[in-house]
Amino acid sequence: MLSAEAETLIANADEFRRDLHVWFDAHHRLLPWRERPSVYKTVVSEFMCQQTQVGTVIPYFERWVARWPDFESLAAADEAAVLRAWEGLGYYSRARRLHALAREVARMPEPPRTADGWIELPGVGAYTAAAIASIAFSDPVAVVDGNVVRVISRLVCDERVFKDNGAAVKAVEPLARAMVDPVFPGDFNQAMMELGATVCYRRRPLCALCPVREHCAAEQRGLAEELPKFLPRETQRHEVDRALVIDARGAVLLRRYGPDSPTLSGLCEIPAAGGALRLPARAVPELVRKRSIANRSYTENIYRVKATDALRRRVAGDSGLFWAAPAELAAVTLSGPHRKWLGELL
Ligand code: ADE
Repeated sequence: MLSAEAETLIANADEFRRDLHVWFDAHHRLLPWRERPSVYKTVVSEFMCQQTQVGTVIPYFERWVARWPDFESLAAADEAAVLRAWEGLGYYSRARRLHALAREVARMPEPPRTADGWIELPGVGAYTAAAIASIAFSDPVAVVDGNVVRVISRLVCDERVFKDNGAAVKAVEPLARAMVDPVFPGDFNQAMMELGATVCYRRRPLCALCPVREHCAAEQRGLAEELPKFLPRETQRHEVDRALVIDARGAVLLRRYGPDSPTLSGLCEIPAAGGALRLPARAVPELVRKRSIANRSYTENIYRVKATDALRRRVAGDSGLFWAAPAELAAVTLSGPHRKWLGELL
């Protein structure tokens, strides 16, 4: 069942698309993957942009395509180099999925041309499949990310309270499908995301500059900034104690996660205390840092621990721990802000 506002939006779809395209043609950002676009560049940029802001992505994207200019070269790269090139972008499973995808595509005579074809490939979800197929092949499918959820829920003044982003995506998808431009779906989808990213801000949206203001039911009722509504998420607080151990030659003790860790496999960290790494009684942390990921907030306490013989023997029994000599440190991939912390501590 569509609301009256949704019916009106759909009835005016042609005019809406025209207003959106005129704005996008004049105001789209000049992004490196929009210059001489290719399927490969579209795939890399969409993987990188999934959970990271465009401004952060740009230098990573440029280094990436200079080093691996096509699916074949990326397919031939080794996993450690791929992870190291991703270091700092976070959500490393994206790097592994992109790498696996390149291997798959490099084996095919041609990449798929539809979202249905892309979603069959390993590591490609609904968002990525729709983005790639619409942008690179004009498949008329709708892309719905957090930006598009915000734009659409405001256009039709949808006041439902969503449990999370996934529920909101599902709720607005039928309307996105009805609105997508069947002739220029790639530009339409990019314009919707761009509108969300550069005008229809979560806080203080720039409604005065909005090209589709006349179509926006929430703006007409003064409710744009209130929407979309989400259930409040409880933040989970965690406290982690870590042991920084440096031996006489300056080698740093690190933990490397194995393949049984779905999110951190292949990445290294200053190891958490416990097991082989006991903290002395009444120890005082040398560095205390807070960080948050999604709805989890972490307090990280980093203690300096002496590299005694007893500690070395215990470390030898833990296959995840290894000593990284100073010259090797640049080549290991550190998860999250661990490189920054090491810089502060060394
Ligand atoms: N965010 C992620 N992908 C995008 C795209 N293709 N255009 C604009 N914003 C985006």
